[in-house]
Amino acid sequence: MKPNIKNIAVLTSGGDAPGMNACIRAAVRTGIYNGINMFGVMQGYQGLINNNIIPMGARSVSNIIHLGGTVLKTARCLDFKTEEGMKIAYDNLKANDIDGLVVIGGDGTFTGAQRFSQRYDVNVIGVPGTIDNDLYGSDFTLGYDTAINTVIEAIDKIRDTADSHDRLFFVEVMGRDSGCIALRAAISSGAEAVLLPEKPTSLDELIEQLEIGAATKKSSSIVIVSEGHKAGGAYDIAKKVKERFNHYDTKVTILGHLQRGGSPSSFDRILGSRLGFAAINELLKGNTEQMVGLRGNEIKTTSIDEALTKHTFKLEADLLEMAKVLSI
Ligand code: F6P
Repeated sequence: MKPNIKNIAVLTSGGDAPGMNACIRAAVRTGIYNGINMFGVMQGYQGLINNNIIPMGARSVSNIIHLGGTVLKTARCLDFKTEEGMKIAYDNLKANDIDGLVVIGGDGTFTGAQRFSQRYDVNVIGVPGTIDNDLYGSDFTLGYDTAINTVIEAIDKIRDTADSHDRLFFVEVMGRDSGCIALRAAISSGAEAVLLPEKPTSLDELIEQLEIGAATKKSSSIVIVSEGHKAGGAYDIAKKVKERFNHYDTKVTILGHLQRGGSPSSFDRILGSRLGFAAINELLKGNTEQMVGLRGNEIKTTSIDEALTKHTFKLEADLLEMAKVLSI
């Protein structure tokens, strides 16, 4: 318990996600509303090591709620994984009198926060900010909804040309170890098949599915491939399918980093606001090593430890089953 918090810093780390700015804005304003001095750390944990810590006022977060990316910048910081890096970061926090830290990011960010708070007396609250939706304790992570909307907008366009040419398209989407984007994108774009890292689908199964589609007069097909799929990326899979399914005119689109950008959806703006608000309130209550998340439309806390260890299979089984049925 450390209820007498006076100075709080906010940082974003790992892959950026739409909605992070809404969360920064909410955290800064909630802190100021409660009489706290608020700071922003530039470039995630790298900024802690470089002492790149700036004061933030209510007006410094004006006009950012609609912006993608993160105004605090972000980085994947290798130095923070070392004991020396963490010590420098801690010394910089102490030199700035900062006693509370809000970290917004994904599993790498949370692992850093966990190791840091186990070694040093800084109260840390995590906000799940990643398009991958791969943290336990929040039904949705920040940026996931916007990313799915971006993906389906792209797939709708691909569908137009796929259908006009009677082609088979393989569309690769992000999600290093997580098929969450792929599954929801498949359902909302009406894809013929989806390949997920959590559920290995053999090429035989895929080809059988495509053949059934062709036999029942589907003229074009879209297969969503999650980037973490064990059979390889979309190019590898398309090549293997083409070898055995030569009559199909196959094409590949890798959506890549465009999935991380763009103005956040209203869902992500509201989620970011709720989570930023909650993160500061948890620090003010003296809580630490907790993640704030959305569960059943309520903001709940989960220990960072659980958020990291329990996420292994987050795919919704009912959606998986439904995607198969609806794609016949
Ligand atoms: O974790 C979010 C994510 O976008 C993953 O889906 C993807 O695999 C990874 O980040 C890409 O990271 P980077 O931008 O560092 O290449």
